[in-house]
Amino acid sequence: MSIAVCPGSFDPVTYGHLDIINRGAKVFDKVIVSVLTNRTKSPIFTVEERLELLREVTKDIPNVEVDSFQGLLIDYMHTKGANAIIKGLRAVSDFEYEMQMASINRLLDKKIETFFMMTNNQFSFLSSSIVKEVAKYDADVSSLVPPVVEQALKVKFKGASPKAQL
Ligand code: PNS
Repeated sequence: MSIAVCPGSFDPVTYGHLDIINRGAKVFDKVIVSVLTNRTKSPIFTVEERLELLREVTKDIPNVEVDSFQGLLIDYMHTKGANAIIKGLRAVSDFEYEMQMASINRLLDKKIETFFMMTNNQFSFLSSSIVKEVAKYDADVSSLVPPVVEQALKVKFKGASPKAQL
């Protein structure tokens, strides 16, 4: 059985992530979408909120499981019996960092392979940070994230919009 892990911060999940998860689920028997919990970045959504949103938006993909991890990705992969990492590549700017991560992960365990998928062109500019920036100013993010995420962003930024404070 081929088990792949799609790791990330998912703060929050976007249509770009969902595209990679959907395509990965067509190739691997099982895809575990896993949220890193001990990141030094300060997320706007709690781990529980991010897991809930991920569960909601992947509920119709039967071979996708949502989980969280801390520490090294390779150690987590071992606990899950997973043999592949799937990542999306948006632009050349992603390449250097992703190559570094893939190389380190291969050094730690050469049996685990990293698979990169080119993000669909329509999502090549999209990131969770961009979504948060746009949502903070109360602008329309409906083409960037699923409705449930759009709603969660509205709740998160309610009253916090710099526009509202003018
Ligand atoms: O969505 P992100 O923030 O770009 O995801 C980055 C993530 C979680 C995939 C990456 O930071 C990661 O795998 N972290 C776990 C720690 C680890 O194994 N690092 C590689 C060896 S130093």
